[in-house]
Amino acid sequence: MAKTIVELKNVSKSYGETTILKHINLELEEGKFYTLLGPSGCGKTTILRTIAGFTDATTGEIRFDGQKINDVPANKRKVNTVFQDYALFPHMSVFDNVAFGLAIHKLDKAEIKQRVQAALTLVQLEGYTNRGIAELSGGQQQRVAIARAIVMKPRVLLLDEPLSALDAKLRRAMQVELRNLQQRLGITFLFVTHDQEEALAMSDDIFVMNNGEILQSGSPVDIYDEPVNHFVADFIGESNILPGHMIKDYEVEFGGQKFTCSDAGMKPNEPVEVVLRPEDLTITTPENGKLVVTIETQLFRGDYYEIVGYDDDHHEWLIHSIHSPKDGERVGLTFDPDDIHVMRYGEKEAEFEARLDAYED
Ligand SMILES: Nc1ncnc2c1ncn2[C@@H]1O[C@H](COP(=O)(O)OP(=O)(O)OP(=O)(O)O)[C@@H](O)[C@H]1O
Ligand SMILES: [Mg+2]
Repeated sequence: MAKTIVELKNVSKSYGETTILKHINLELEEGKFYTLLGPSGCGKTTILRTIAGFTDATTGEIRFDGQKINDVPANKRKVNTVFQDYALFPHMSVFDNVAFGLAIHKLDKAEIKQRVQAALTLVQLEGYTNRGIAELSGGQQQRVAIARAIVMKPRVLLLDEPLSALDAKLRRAMQVELRNLQQRLGITFLFVTHDQEEALAMSDDIFVMNNGEILQSGSPVDIYDEPVNHFVADFIGESNILPGHMIKDYEVEFGGQKFTCSDAGMKPNEPVEVVLRPEDLTITTPENGKLVVTIETQLFRGDYYEIVGYDDDHHEWLIHSIHSPKDGERVGLTFDPDDIHVMRYGEKEAEFEARLDAYED
């Protein structure tokens, strides 16, 4: 097991009467790429600020290498931050921006030069040392901000929505670059985004947040396949979420029918929510379908059709298919028992994981 480097233990943060972080527990291991994912205002930046030392936790402990660091000032923490707006010095050259922190620490000129060059090489800006910040593109400024942080050799790099100012194509290129950079440096990255595709593509582990809470943490595949609740299922990827009942272990009812599934550990006849991902639904004839829907609309998405249909209970179904049925056509839908994911109302991550463990064979 990799070593834990940063730990938040039951961290809460309030401003007056308003609590914006509620009992945050998280653990970051050395050398991994983590993402905090959640909608605007859920507390992502505040978590970064408590780790960096710019904001005090109201209660709880922040630990680094096992030592409590709540009272350690920001400049003494082995953590650097890349801010959303880059916070570069506009009147200074690329070299001076990247050298700034080293110069403050009064390192000798030769070492500063060598480290700045190495950092600029890592972000592919070797030839830009004398450029002014205003003479750089948005993507190049982004790289300067990253070089300025990694030149300090932090053990943990915090990145607050660093790609949000870039256009879609550059953003994708930078996602790959950042991931490669993290692997080459071998340090821990804690990356913030509200873009779920970005989180799924880049991370070893994701923390999904809403309203000042971490709802679920785990690998992209785990969170996508087994969301703990409605919010996570809806926020990560596209889903069909239907009300149903757990008849007994491995048998669930929804849309007026019973289906075999791989979930268990609920009470008999417990009301539940059922998740089926659009790409797990296969279109067939009405006779061969487990459910029948009437096609309402379809959009061509390049590599698939995004199809909306309604079942006889007027539930909306989102289907991704390479086939394109006609509007108004009645089609059957099939899916595998493993594609059904059942969620309990109000179940928290710890209870959810304990139930999964108990029923794993
Ligand atoms: N200094 C402050 N005083 C009072 N409330 C604050 C303060 N800083 C942040 N907040 C509030 O705390 C909540 C969380 O803010 P935070 O900046 O952490 O959200 P975020 O997840 O980073 O959002 P975004 O995606 O928009 O950047 C917000 O409701 C915000 O208004
Ligand atoms: Mg923020």
